[in-house]
Amino acid sequence: MIVKRLATRSFRNLEDTEIFPHAGVNVIYGDNAQGKTNLLEALWLFTGGHSFRGAKDGELPVLGADGKNAPSAALAMDFFSEERDQKAVLQIENGRRSSVINGVAKKTGSALVGKVRAVIFSPEYLLLVKEGPHRRRSFIDGALCQLRPGFAGALGMYNRALLQRNALLKDLFRFPELRDTLEVWDARLAKLGAAVMVERRNYVGRMAARAADIYAGISKGKESLEAAYVPSVKGLSESFTAGEAEEAFLAELRRVEASDIRTGFTSYGPHRDDLELFLHGLSARSFGSQGQQRSTVLALKLAEAETLAGASGETPIVLLDDVMSELDQSRQDYLLNHLHGRQVFITCCSPETAGLQETGKRFRVEAGKITPETV
Ligand SMILES: Nc1ncnc2c1ncn2[C@@H]1O[C@H](COP(=O)(O)OP(=O)(O)O)[C@@H](O)[C@H]1O
Ligand SMILES: [Mg+2]
Repeated sequence: MIVKRLATRSFRNLEDTEIFPHAGVNVIYGDNAQGKTNLLEALWLFTGGHSFRGAKDGELPVLGADGKNAPSAALAMDFFSEERDQKAVLQIENGRRSSVINGVAKKTGSALVGKVRAVIFSPEYLLLVKEGPHRRRSFIDGALCQLRPGFAGALGMYNRALLQRNALLKDLFRFPELRDTLEVWDARLAKLGAAVMVERRNYVGRMAARAADIYAGISKGKESLEAAYVPSVKGLSESFTAGEAEEAFLAELRRVEASDIRTGFTSYGPHRDDLELFLHGLSARSFGSQGQQRSTVLALKLAEAETLAGASGETPIVLLDDVMSELDQSRQDYLLNHLHGRQVFITCCSPETAGLQETGKRFRVEAGKITPETV
């Protein structure tokens, strides 16, 4: 998909404006706190998702002199998707969203979901590499929820079964006679968990191959990235079936039953899965430099965009907030010039960085005023 026009009214610190982005790379540059991220956020909100900065809808309209947010803000976008020109309007009024899609008014902002697709990278995604497995599982599951309509439901059922099994484990400590009930929950958990594991393994396989290619491009072929799904349930081959996963998970539950009862917690299962990230065979988390970690997350996010595009036929727009710092010249060069076939919006501080770009547009942002520049 391609954004052809974006207009904003009373949104954050942005002056009421309209811009006509390039179908390729759009560089948004300016000093700190001028409104660059606000512009990306305006684009992102059309996905129907919440602010990636965790802002409430009521905080999005411009602040008045009294320090209060204006009652309303509006964003409008013209875009090309599903082989036709389309229009969307997103209104925020007294903290509530509504939308107009191709002239049809909708009561919610979530009516936009699936219309406009985007992948966002902002500095906080670095935690994907730096922190524990929770964020990496969310990264996989978030993509799967978009890719596989039934996945969110399957994951929800697993998580509920897990809560129930954990509750039972705690009861068992006092009421050992409930032990037979545990077998029922074990069987259920193993079946539901196996379905989640198979989906995650399949997705990571597809995404990881793309991430490896992109990382090789970013590092000019000097470094390699390997992303691998690591199920918490051990002893499975890489091509495990749902039946094998179920059997192995059940065996694992039996093996650790006594200690699970002691701790009141299910110690193995998809809720403990991880995505391992290796750079040249070394853990990206422990050994990667800042620049390498940033490149890793970028490669993962771009690979996610490609995988989603492969499935839906629509290439998501790519929003890159502040990725340039800590990337050396050749990595910046790759990003600006080798992201063919996608529309990219990228923020950075210096116009020199933006000057590297060969095809695209540049926008200067100063105190909320956006000025297009010819490259
Ligand atoms: N609702 C709002 N009304 C007016 N200004 C806002 C609002 N929300 C954020 N801002 C201002 O926007 C500026 C930050 O913009 P941002 O896009 O994050 O900057 P950057 O260019 O560094 O990415 C800050 O000065 C902040 O005070
Ligand atoms: Mg910013």
